[in-house]
Amino acid sequence: MNFTEAQQKVQQLSQELEQHNYNYYVLDNPTISDYEFDKLLEQLIAIEQQFPELVTPTSPSQRVGGQVTKTFQSVKHHFPMLSLSNSYSQEDMYDFDRRVREGLGITNTGLFDEAIEYVCELKFDGLSISLIYKEGQLSQAITRGDGVQGDDVTTNAKTIKSLPLKLKGNYPTHFEIRGEIFMPRPVFDAINKEREEIGDVPMANPRNAASGSMKMQDSTQVAKRKLDCFLYNVLGENIPFTSHFESVQAAETWGFKISKEAKVCHGIDEVINFINYWDKKRFDLPYDTDGVVIKVNNYLQQKNLGFTAKSPRWAIAYKFKAEQVSTELQSISYQVGRTGAITPVANLKPVALGGTTVKRASLHNADIIEKLDVRVGDFVFVEKGGEIIPKIIGVDMSKRQAHSQPTLYITQCPECHTELKRNEGEANHFCPNEASCPPQVIGKMEHFVSRKAMNIDSLGGETIVQLYQAGLVKDIADLYDLKKEQLLPLERMAEKSANNLIEGIEKSKLVPFERVLYAIGIRHVGETTAKKITKKVKNLERLMRMNKEELLTIDEVGEIIADSIISYFSQTDNQQIIQRLKNTGLQFEINEVQMQNGSDKLKDKTIVISGVFTKHSREQYKDLIELHGGKNSSSISKKTSFVLAGDNMGPEKLKKAESLGVKIVNEDEFLQMIN
Ligand code: IVH
Repeated sequence: MNFTEAQQKVQQLSQELEQHNYNYYVLDNPTISDYEFDKLLEQLIAIEQQFPELVTPTSPSQRVGGQVTKTFQSVKHHFPMLSLSNSYSQEDMYDFDRRVREGLGITNTGLFDEAIEYVCELKFDGLSISLIYKEGQLSQAITRGDGVQGDDVTTNAKTIKSLPLKLKGNYPTHFEIRGEIFMPRPVFDAINKEREEIGDVPMANPRNAASGSMKMQDSTQVAKRKLDCFLYNVLGENIPFTSHFESVQAAETWGFKISKEAKVCHGIDEVINFINYWDKKRFDLPYDTDGVVIKVNNYLQQKNLGFTAKSPRWAIAYKFKAEQVSTELQSISYQVGRTGAITPVANLKPVALGGTTVKRASLHNADIIEKLDVRVGDFVFVEKGGEIIPKIIGVDMSKRQAHSQPTLYITQCPECHTELKRNEGEANHFCPNEASCPPQVIGKMEHFVSRKAMNIDSLGGETIVQLYQAGLVKDIADLYDLKKEQLLPLERMAEKSANNLIEGIEKSKLVPFERVLYAIGIRHVGETTAKKITKKVKNLERLMRMNKEELLTIDEVGEIIADSIISYFSQTDNQQIIQRLKNTGLQFEINEVQMQNGSDKLKDKTIVISGVFTKHSREQYKDLIELHGGKNSSSISKKTSFVLAGDNMGPEKLKKAESLGVKIVNEDEFLQMIN
């Protein structure tokens, strides 16, 4: 390929990729599979590598990240980023409307009042961003900062797939557009689930998650956070519009993602209806909103109203009330997690809140208890905010009993009585007795047998507790020494379940190395990291010998993971467990035969698995799909190539597959396909 050909190809691929990005992330209507998209992107990256001079700052290759920002440059905003004054009630809304009318000289004449046109928008709960576009290209993305100057986070912003890097249509040559970057709820939940599985502290809420992500130095990591962005404010010297709504509608035609929920309201009563509607409906949205922003629509009216020192007079934020109740704190208990982290839990007198009965609330850690000065017997205010677990936000001091005593945080593990520790800079105390603190041992075993790990589904949580309490297992390696005769005397253990259990454990010896590595439960080593490690380091022995510097060369492995791997293998208990697991025949190296048996028979295919299977487990089918070049997906869409269905396929899935005309393939057909 010569330079001119490359130039043409880069241009064509870039255009195609941006259109697909737009279809997927803005219109929510993809027209090619993820696989096809990745192939196009790979093609572009390959040409750009060969002809680096063809890389442009707005190339779709910039969206995968790769650049590291050591320090974010501080930049002054062309127009200050003001905040809004808040309001909380219907009265506040009428006051706002009155101030607007007075400001515009529109007098109240009763029945024939001229209604002000307001635009109501949801108040997205994330971090605000100001984007500068020059000649139709994203030139700079700046955080709010103190409102006067913010940080240049352009590199990170480019990883947000719904943000156009190049514009379409009839856009002004130079303008700014502002909006809110947020983390969608489903993304937040998935990341937290993964974090909990690998013993990481979960993120507090989607807002913190979004702003934390934008501050990360490595844009590859930011790209993984799957952030999104709604735009809600167009600014510039010569903007050819007469109203706010018009400008935002125009921005939609330039390729920006604009909220479909925004509405023009005629008069304050319509505004109040909008607020009341979303106060209830907001929980159905896939992102968090903490209120409604009300803006005078007409630009001339906005100009006439002007600004106070802090905020525009033509806009106001209405904040939804977080539902709150007061109830009695009956006791505080302390939970020990799989990684030994201690969580204090408030046991409350049951109370109705947000449609459910609340009995417990997290108290997070010792500092929070001290800060709130919560004591047993107190009446506490409980709130349901963005978090799923309700929060205690304060104490009703007027009801405090005279004899109440400050809460003394425990110093010993409630389960094994080991002295608790707390690492510098960490919020939670933890029990260091990893090897024999019951919830830690049981938690590790539960993780070990779980579906994505060793997938021993004949061994459920209750049986693990039974085995542990009967003294039959004290660590994961003990599972492989279990004999049927030892199991039979256990309660509810029939011959058949005992056989299944032993068989399940035996079968797990075939589980590939990458999942064994995930299963042994090294803190911070999740499913994906384990895969990356095994791909590069083909056997455990080598991994155990690697120093920090070597570990850091592995994709996905940063300081924290490297330290955690080293610390895990330096402990004698762990070394012994590994040795015993090795002796029983677990896979501690990449199975070359399995590698060679792979094919690309499922290349291009996105497959959804549903139902119960007889010949292999679900996890094994997932592995087979990947081994043959296919991609696993959990939900059926137009992009699904076929559904691999076992018995009892979910009725919802079946209906969806039928309605989209997606093919259903049974176990035998599938095995034939890859054989
Ligand atoms: S307009 C001068 N519209 O709320 C007015 N803000 O306190 C500029 N926000 O900093 C803001 N959704 O981060 C506007 N639809 C929306 C919004 C919104 C969320 C945030 C924004 C701003 C804060 C206002």
